Amino acid sequence: MSHTVTLIPGDGIGPEVTDAAVSVIEALGVEIEWHRVEAGGEVMARYGTPVPDHVLNLIRKDKVALKGPITTPIGEGFKSANVTLRQSLELYACLRPVKSLPEITSRYEDVDLVVVRENTEDLYSGIEHLIVPGVAESIKVITATAVTRIAEFAFEYARRENRKKITVVHKANIMKISDGLFLECTKVVRRRYPEIEYEEKIVDNVALQLVRDPSQFDVMLMGNLYGDILSDLCAGLVGGLGVVPGANLGADYAVFEAVHGSAPDIAGRNKANPTAVLLSSVLMLRHLGERDAAERMEAAVHRALGDPDARTADLGGAGTTTSFTDAVIAAL
Ligand code: NAI
Repeated sequence: MSHTVTLIPGDGIGPEVTDAAVSVIEALGVEIEWHRVEAGGEVMARYGTPVPDHVLNLIRKDKVALKGPITTPIGEGFKSANVTLRQSLELYACLRPVKSLPEITSRYEDVDLVVVRENTEDLYSGIEHLIVPGVAESIKVITATAVTRIAEFAFEYARRENRKKITVVHKANIMKISDGLFLECTKVVRRRYPEIEYEEKIVDNVALQLVRDPSQFDVMLMGNLYGDILSDLCAGLVGGLGVVPGANLGADYAVFEAVHGSAPDIAGRNKANPTAVLLSSVLMLRHLGERDAAERMEAAVHRALGDPDARTADLGGAGTTTSFTDAVIAAL
């Protein structure tokens, strides 16, 4: 069966790693008609918005997108294209499976957790202003509707994937009303899933516990900002940002992208590790119903990672983005 997928290469290392994904998927023989479209800074200059309507409408038509990272200006400039996409398409669930790779020696060998991050509100709403010079205010928005929906997503995911426990990450000791509401809603949803163990943990303690013994975590449910920060921490436990995939999911659309950003420090130098985007593509193939192809692609990535010479520099190897991609294709 042939599929149509929107491809947003992004910027920085985005075009390099998404090219890798397209090559591997082509080599797999999965028929995908790619609809390539740009978003981000250059588009902003032309259209006055980093995510113009024609980009959103293309994804609405294709329903599925594969996306490279997009740079967001710091402390000034336009609103994040990534956040705009997630909010405009109601991609309310950000799913990031973090698993130790048997081929890679890292601090831990037994990490197998899933970060479920609320993707549409929280401090990420970007509602902020200067009250008077020298005093800034940023508003954290938490709604029962959004929390209930992400909690239902997390519990349904846990049930479907036979996961045993959900840890809700919060800071309701300090933000008693907003994070308090988050917990109130997750407590209501959990009642419908008695077979799944439920616990609540304060975010600072979670950071410590993750570094000490990540194997104690299974599914981790959290708001947007905690999810952003802890996703990178979790990536650091299993080999770094170069290896952790992700999906932004809503009721109607799905956008697959790695956890990492545009990595300007290595962009354009054939140094980026494409593994994270390749594994995001594996998630995408499963979503498209291409289960066999997904298994083959995942196995090939593991086989390529198993060759120390093929690995990219972030994993201590001498491989490049393109040579690692070739190794994955050879391993198919
Ligand atoms: P980053 O994730 O781009 O890079 C952090 C560090 O990890 C850098 O040293 C980078 O070289 C390394 N790294 C990241 N991906 C790698 C890969 N595939 N292979 C090898 N090394 C890799 O985070 P940073 O520098 O904080 O952000 C850069 C830009 O990316 C910012 O403009 C930020 O807003 C944007 N960003 C975009 C995201 C998205 O499009 N979803 C997500 C995160 C950040």
